[in-house]
Amino acid sequence: MRIAIAALALLASAPAVAQTTPIPRIESRDGRHALIVDGAPFLMLAAQANNSSNYVSQLPMVWPMLDRLHANTLEMPVAWQQIEPVEGKFDFTFVQALLDQARAHDKRVVLLWFGTWKNTSFAYTPDWVKLDNSRFPRMKTRDGKDHGVLSAMFPATRDADRKAFVALMQYLKAHDPQNTVIMVQPENETGSYSNPRDYGAKANALFAQAVPAPLVKALGKAPGTWSAVFGAQADRAFNTWHVARFVDAIAAAGKAVKPLPMYVNASLAGPSNVPDPNGVASGGPQQDVLDIWKAAAPSIDAAAPDIYDRKASNVVAYLSAYARRDNALLVPEIGNATDFARFFWPALGRGAIGYAPFGMDDTGYSNYPLGAKVLDEETVGAIARKYALFAPIAREWAKVALAHPTWGVAKGDDGAAQSTVMGDWSITASFGQWQFGQKDWTWIKADKPGWADQPVGGAVVAQLSPTEFLVAGDYVRLNFGAKAGGPAKGMMVRVEEGTLTDGRWTTTSVWNGDQTDYGLNIIDRPVLLKVTMGVYK
Ligand code: DGJ
Repeated sequence: MRIAIAALALLASAPAVAQTTPIPRIESRDGRHALIVDGAPFLMLAAQANNSSNYVSQLPMVWPMLDRLHANTLEMPVAWQQIEPVEGKFDFTFVQALLDQARAHDKRVVLLWFGTWKNTSFAYTPDWVKLDNSRFPRMKTRDGKDHGVLSAMFPATRDADRKAFVALMQYLKAHDPQNTVIMVQPENETGSYSNPRDYGAKANALFAQAVPAPLVKALGKAPGTWSAVFGAQADRAFNTWHVARFVDAIAAAGKAVKPLPMYVNASLAGPSNVPDPNGVASGGPQQDVLDIWKAAAPSIDAAAPDIYDRKASNVVAYLSAYARRDNALLVPEIGNATDFARFFWPALGRGAIGYAPFGMDDTGYSNYPLGAKVLDEETVGAIARKYALFAPIAREWAKVALAHPTWGVAKGDDGAAQSTVMGDWSITASFGQWQFGQKDWTWIKADKPGWADQPVGGAVVAQLSPTEFLVAGDYVRLNFGAKAGGPAKGMMVRVEEGTLTDGRWTTTSVWNGDQTDYGLNIIDRPVLLKVTMGVYK
């Protein structure tokens, strides 16, 4: 008895033993991708906190918003200035609080390393870095002036940044065996505006030399100088290579400690033109230089777009450009205003492994005009309703998206219907439809629905088998039918609302009548449906 009591007392006083889980990773299969967390696919329904929310005092204003959003992941900055305020003396108080509180709130974390670059500036470096231009040189402009961005050409800067980043990863290795942190973003929006490259003596000497052989080989180009190989984009290509090599050195050293997935984010340039090297964040991972980043930074798992462009055709072009066989799509930042929320659907349709509106906390800050004017109920609800549908099936959806073709649309700038073909079937998404009947009927005189002229609406479809589709969406009508030249006797057989658990579909109701007669009319409440097509005899 006495022994039993002693054993119980021992158990009660022992610190909770953290469970070790497999380290997260990105898995790619046949050009599709999944973020694997705790050994299984995981869809990151995330939100990014504001830039200055990375202090213990701010955390109580972060979690309630995450809960309201039904988010499963928080993207949170950790700044070099905060962990190494004095050179060589590290302070991980905030990181530990973040880990503890994330676990208590049942959230995963993506750490954003604000180091040498944060929005192309070095504002988040410690004061001892900022104030020492001879040890940590700024870029030089063409006319020899200091530019407000640290140069990527100097090992001292890289080594100091790397040392701090490695210390952070060592802290995670020691204090996060359960992998509360599932991914890391080394640096934030690298590159430099208005100065395509460093024009200092060291950079000029390197620029005059040949493009490194691995880069010309990766791009399939003939060897030559930067100018000969890249022409008008030479300065930018040069800076991109050196920034990417710098970031790769940091990521590689961090991964050697703890091999978490690592991605970089881009301050974007116009999606369909070759950007003006003076107007773009030269050096950053924009879509037209991804191949340079891939060649220069093999330790980086993915490059990702930060989306603040409200033009639907541009957003879709960005999503398409970053969804590559060799690059898992992740939207680590997107504006938090209601009109951005619909792009959740085309992101999922392109296999996104995660999605995060930016500036989601209750610190009272709003980054209008990039995002919403205020984070009111309607603004939060626009994303929260979608996350609420996906939160219970976050793993199921990620599993489906790794194994099956997906298609996603958002209402476009012109509001026109959009179609695709999956297998034998054509699928059309249309917007602003009545809940009954066709818009061109003249015998019903009725106004358009309230949302018809608003920038809302979208859907995602996964093809589970030749005849079965998983469908989700809002403010949309979906019509399924035989494709042109497809089965003449093809028809929609059955539409079920329900959910997925352990790979199995459970039906909660069968849609029919008004809900399906004119197409699947999904309104403000996102729903999950299973559509079964068939061919009659
Ligand atoms: C993109 C950056 O990555 C974020 O940190 C933030 O500054 C937003 N822009 C603007 O609010």
